[in-house]
Amino acid sequence: MSSEVSQEATPQVAQEPTVSKSELYATLATQLRSLLAGERNLIANAANFSSLVYHALPDVNWAGFYFRHGNELILGPFQGQPACVRIEVGKGVCGLSVAQLDTIIVPNVHEFPGHIACDAASNAEIVVPVFDGQHCLGVFDLDSPQLGRFDEQDAEGLNELVTIFEEACEGRPEED
Ligand code: SME
Repeated sequence: MSSEVSQEATPQVAQEPTVSKSELYATLATQLRSLLAGERNLIANAANFSSLVYHALPDVNWAGFYFRHGNELILGPFQGQPACVRIEVGKGVCGLSVAQLDTIIVPNVHEFPGHIACDAASNAEIVVPVFDGQHCLGVFDLDSPQLGRFDEQDAEGLNELVTIFEEACEGRPEED
């Protein structure tokens, strides 16, 4: 009997994800609530938020915050490759999200006029504005190497996570 390992191809069946997107975001919301419980510090909460999302969501290569300083967004806590530090409000996907005060889903960043490329591996992006009471204090930005990675379910799930972040940081002292 030959000891050679059979070279016959094993049929590969496409695996349906065992957890749906809505279940994944519901789990993440529970984890985020306990991760941020009792902590109001913006930078600490943004750092833990970025790490949680980056490690929990599949096919993501960058996750992080930009915070508004006047007419500019400045890089905050993130996970992924080093990124551009300053973005003018109105420019790029992040700046547009702040100007429009709305979530922006970009299925293909190469077709988005004015997209600012930080990591050459990024092909899709979603940006969610973050509010401090009535004011937009910045954005949460998520990039993926997979074209069309983000949809309305991601927008809904991420907005819920950002709301948990906003509520956790609510009432923080200005200097904190
Ligand atoms: N692509 C963003 C810039 C930030 S990086 O993706 C981390 C934009 O166009 O605003």
